[in-house]
Amino acid sequence: HGTFNNPFHDSLDDVRLEAFLDELASIDLEEIDRLTSEVGMAENHTDDAAVPQPAPYIPRDGAEAESFRAAGEEIIARGGVAAFTVAGGQGTRLGWQGPKGTFPATPIAGKPLFRVFAEQITAMEQRHGVGIPWYVMTSPLNDADTRAFFEDNQWFGKSPTEVTLFPQGVMPAVDADGRMLLEAPGRLALSPDGHGGSLRALRRSGSIEDMRNRGVEVISYFQVDNPNVHVIDPVFIGLHARHADSSGEMSSKMVPKCDAAEKVGVFCRVDGRVCVIEYSDLDPALAAATDADGRLKYLSGSIALHMLGLDFIDQLTAPGSDRSLPFHRAHKKVPFWDEAAGATIQPEEPNGTKFEMFVFDALDFAERSIVLETDRVEEFAPIKNADGTDSPQTSRDLQVERAARWIEAAGGSVPRNADGVVDATIEIQAATALEAVDLDRDALPTITSGESILF
Ligand code: UD1
Repeated sequence: HGTFNNPFHDSLDDVRLEAFLDELASIDLEEIDRLTSEVGMAENHTDDAAVPQPAPYIPRDGAEAESFRAAGEEIIARGGVAAFTVAGGQGTRLGWQGPKGTFPATPIAGKPLFRVFAEQITAMEQRHGVGIPWYVMTSPLNDADTRAFFEDNQWFGKSPTEVTLFPQGVMPAVDADGRMLLEAPGRLALSPDGHGGSLRALRRSGSIEDMRNRGVEVISYFQVDNPNVHVIDPVFIGLHARHADSSGEMSSKMVPKCDAAEKVGVFCRVDGRVCVIEYSDLDPALAAATDADGRLKYLSGSIALHMLGLDFIDQLTAPGSDRSLPFHRAHKKVPFWDEAAGATIQPEEPNGTKFEMFVFDALDFAERSIVLETDRVEEFAPIKNADGTDSPQTSRDLQVERAARWIEAAGGSVPRNADGVVDATIEIQAATALEAVDLDRDALPTITSGESILF
């Protein structure tokens, strides 16, 4: 199975040949064959017949929110929830040397993203007197560094038995003829198989079984790049488990897009099923369409937060299941080995195709799926780019704004300038509050202009 962009040659010594064979054994060559044969090399599949409709969504503060919160808290308290971070991306856009979860994200303490999540989980565990197991998907490229970071930080005060790190799968890049690219003699050009690879990695790593043994019913899925995430959200868990429009298989959160061009996937409905159409795949005319009030018609931006039923993931990934996620193709510049030049070449133009799965494609297999609206400041402060939008700076500003809103909601006051921008730096730790209602009015700090307050 599989062919290479270079004829295989005899220049490898035994050790490197052995390593190459191991590498080949770690990938599914039949799958590569399928992907690169006839239909395989075609562009991403789009069904022209079906015009996507905007997906319906549930407003955050609906009348029933409190009853769903109670239902969610019950599930948390019986140990039914696991946290799951996908952290296998390469973080190229941020330009940070090291796994993205090690990036110092918070405005005053500079807590790394992994610590932000760990402290939230711990606070929730203490509140409900229950263990909440945490699973972190790495990739073969950053697994060792991630593991070392957790060890250096004493697992952020958690027991190592409560935290499971496992690497996702990889896929080889191929050239225009579908031949696998080598980045060096005896080394494939491999990259992570996308966050959709998390589902089969949960199976392969034994995590599904481990969750089952621990009594987990539902998995709270989130990306590593968002320090404002509510790692464990009782209302969302309750809705996922109890709402009449949810089959308890897979649910999602959305924020209204800030403009037509915002680079987030959009929740749509095709053939009666909820799906996400990635920003790069949504017809620009649809993305810009507005309703009578001038609001975007395709408003629901995906912030990549999902609840996944354990049974659902178990069934999707069971041996012999015919419900595997499709691969998306991306044309990229892939460094490749040039035998004649005797060197690895960094191409100027895209020369290869990478294959990635997207977790939101699992929505297609869910019987009934809900989308819950949430507030951008409250839950979405992603760190993706070194500067500009979705950068460490915009994320810090959003974290401070959220802290200010929580204090104001609790009856405190925060200095703001004439434009309404917070004129102080504020950081609220998870041990103090996980959401605004946790703040105690009598214990609020007094904040003066220009001050930095961590509490
Ligand atoms: C992603 C979503 C987009 C959503 C936005 C919200 C995709 C394709 N796009 O965009 O719809 O609106 O987030 O912030 O998902 N990851 C892995 N393994 C991989 C690839 C990625 O674990 O092989 C993880 C990354 O570590 C990161 C997350 O997935 O936590 C997002 O990946 P990224 O490629 O940065 O997606 P975006 O383009 O930011």
